[in-house]
Amino acid sequence: MKITIIGAAGSVGAPAAFYLAARGLADEILMIGGKRQNVLKQHAMDISTAVSGMGVKIRAGGYEDMGGSDIVINSAGVQQGLIKDRMEMLPKNISLIRDIAGEVKKHCPDAFFITASNPVDPLNYTVYKSAGFDRHQIIGYSVNDTFRFREMVAAEYNVEPGQVEGVVIGEHGSTQVLLFSTVKIDGKPVEIDESTKQRIREEVPNILKRYEELQAGRTAGWTCAMGFARIVNAVINDTKEVIPCSVVLDGEYGQQDLSMSVPAVLGKGGVKDIIEYELAPDEQEGLKTTTETLNKAKKIVDEALSQ
Ligand code: LAC
Repeated sequence: MKITIIGAAGSVGAPAAFYLAARGLADEILMIGGKRQNVLKQHAMDISTAVSGMGVKIRAGGYEDMGGSDIVINSAGVQQGLIKDRMEMLPKNISLIRDIAGEVKKHCPDAFFITASNPVDPLNYTVYKSAGFDRHQIIGYSVNDTFRFREMVAAEYNVEPGQVEGVVIGEHGSTQVLLFSTVKIDGKPVEIDESTKQRIREEVPNILKRYEELQAGRTAGWTCAMGFARIVNAVINDTKEVIPCSVVLDGEYGQQDLSMSVPAVLGKGGVKDIIEYELAPDEQEGLKTTTETLNKAKKIVDEALSQ
């Protein structure tokens, strides 16, 4: 199992390389970086030593080394400075992601390709449109929203996040739709009062902004590493685990040719199926808002790609 991580010098890519290696999810991890080759090489040397004796080869390299990759994770992005909303990053990232998608298509066209660069939904659509991958083979990484949602519900009810089910769909961004109708604790549905819902709805989409306000130059690298491991494990071991991911839709949730987060059944080859929940009226409203936002972003991508 060969995994390539693009953007591997960064605060999402480097923890991903370490954690996937430490979990034994690959025999080979190729780390590709951008301008900071010194940082990339230092990470590769250090991770190599950390996992020595565990049967995984770690190396820094370039696109030309990607051949034979089973999975590619891309977390590369153009430096943006402080942002308030992931969508602000779209214009600068489209051409970078188009170029990377072209490299992946050229060197490992059958790889399962995860885009973690933001905004993930229109950028996963960029991968789809510009390089012509099968929609089941490419996802945008968005499950952190669901992790945060479960964590906050758990805190409200004084239980462990592991006891909580419930998913977030739509944009991996400010209009994301928290599906309270899917929340269960210990397998039992719970009625959540409106003020609690409102509090959680306001907080979950704002976590990234809180990180930005700290000006630490870091993002959710540790959380992403956990999510990548879940996704990689589901794909390589064909577990059919349901994990919310941004997927290009073909009629699901009433959407066509739009990438947004949906509960995806992951297994061999990628997205095997998409679960369509019956939504509560307020969730349907939320879906309308989120798809409006994503359709506007899709237009920006279409225009950029046509130039
Ligand atoms: C997050 C970023 C990385 O929400 O999009 O974790």
